[in-house]
Amino acid sequence: MIDRLVIFGATGDLSARYLLPALAALRTAGHLGDRFQLTCAGRQDWHNEQFQHWAAAQLDRHGGSWPTDLREAIVTSARYRRVDITDPAQVASVIAGDGPVAVYLALPPALFPAAVTTLHQAGLPPGSRIVLEKPFGEDLDSAEELNRLLADFVPEQAVFRVDHFLAMTTVQNVLGSRLANRVLEPIWNSAHIAEVEIVWDECLTLEGRAGYYDGVGALKDMVQNHLLQLLCLVAMEPPISLGERDLRDRKVDVLRSVRALTEKDVLRRTRRARYKAGRIGDRTVPAYADEEGVDPGHRTETFAEVELELDSWRWSGTIFRLRSGKALGNDRKEIAVRFRPVPHLPFGHSGQARPNVLRFGLDPEGLTLDLTGIGSRAQTLVPLTLTAQMGPPDLPAYGQVLLDVLNGNAALSIRGDEAEESWQVLTPVLSAWSEDLVPLQEYPAGSDGPTLQQQPAPRLA
Ligand code: BG6
Repeated sequence: MIDRLVIFGATGDLSARYLLPALAALRTAGHLGDRFQLTCAGRQDWHNEQFQHWAAAQLDRHGGSWPTDLREAIVTSARYRRVDITDPAQVASVIAGDGPVAVYLALPPALFPAAVTTLHQAGLPPGSRIVLEKPFGEDLDSAEELNRLLADFVPEQAVFRVDHFLAMTTVQNVLGSRLANRVLEPIWNSAHIAEVEIVWDECLTLEGRAGYYDGVGALKDMVQNHLLQLLCLVAMEPPISLGERDLRDRKVDVLRSVRALTEKDVLRRTRRARYKAGRIGDRTVPAYADEEGVDPGHRTETFAEVELELDSWRWSGTIFRLRSGKALGNDRKEIAVRFRPVPHLPFGHSGQARPNVLRFGLDPEGLTLDLTGIGSRAQTLVPLTLTAQMGPPDLPAYGQVLLDVLNGNAALSIRGDEAEESWQVLTPVLSAWSEDLVPLQEYPAGSDGPTLQQQPAPRLA
């Protein structure tokens, strides 16, 4: 296990919301030994005490469930360093120390190439690891270029392209349910499954993240990484093991099997929109274009939907719909697997059987199966639902991400070719959207999202 962690961008939103609480969780669970050293580097001209004061406030806000003394232990052990990420001498002095180091680039994606180049010049101790957040690049070309920069100075096994969704236990439960049971895998194909919806609809709005989000948008923030990763887990062939090679090879197969979207497909099968002013619960929400730090000229979408098909023996004929939006009226974060109707119902006119839907609740967790059964009057069909609950996870997703980095377990991080394949899938969408071929619709904050203006692709059964 590596016992030195350096976070560049340590005064940013990612660090405040996720990394510091994750470290507190790891400390609480006893994963960080006494030798563990944390260096937090940022652009702010702060003293150590100023950083610690800020970090303590962030932990109060975002990591309140962890014991106070362990939160304090993280804060007081952190050493703050002001750094210019483009200056090799400064970076070298921050990463200097005994043995290998894990370097976490909690930076806006646009800074990755410069940061990677500086790290190369500064020199990393042998055995070190480098962690990059998503989105990895801005398109296929920039992802390829970033991969080249990384390959010039670190082996692929030392690169952790993070997708924290893969570390969610609710997401891993997709694999658990599919692969540890007899009942699902035989019907896990297009003969039985009409449609899979992968949805991450949030009530959450921009939450002060314009610096990162504006110009990135929902397609690159959510679909290109998190939702395509979920698609991989749903659609992959059973891997031999969950080791990094077997798992990632099978995920890449899925991405490579996505049928390339033509321009006509993009018009029919994708939607983009951004939120107008509205109310979510008792909160008044300004229009996205009026949020602080937003440049309306970027025409950033806060809602993206893409419909895909896979050209493979198993999946040809099933529709995969990926959707994510911000500032919606209700959270809906799930994978819904919709089965085809039964071939024959021997019940006369006594009701309709609804198609079976298996829902993997991602947040909150849960597994439900919509069924049809017989009601209290014989032969009357009624809806039934089976539900299962899981216990809370031992670690938050970012806790697992950090632990995997420190332990050198790359199975849940994205391999270089996988990142490129993901961009490949969406390249036709990016190009048609940038030419405004698909209208940027609007929806009121607090609503269900944009109305279906375009002709959606035919929905099966
Ligand atoms: C992040 C996205 O990666 O995931 C956010 O940048 C999104 O826009 C978030 O809100 C959702 O994940 P979580 O773990 O915060 O619920």
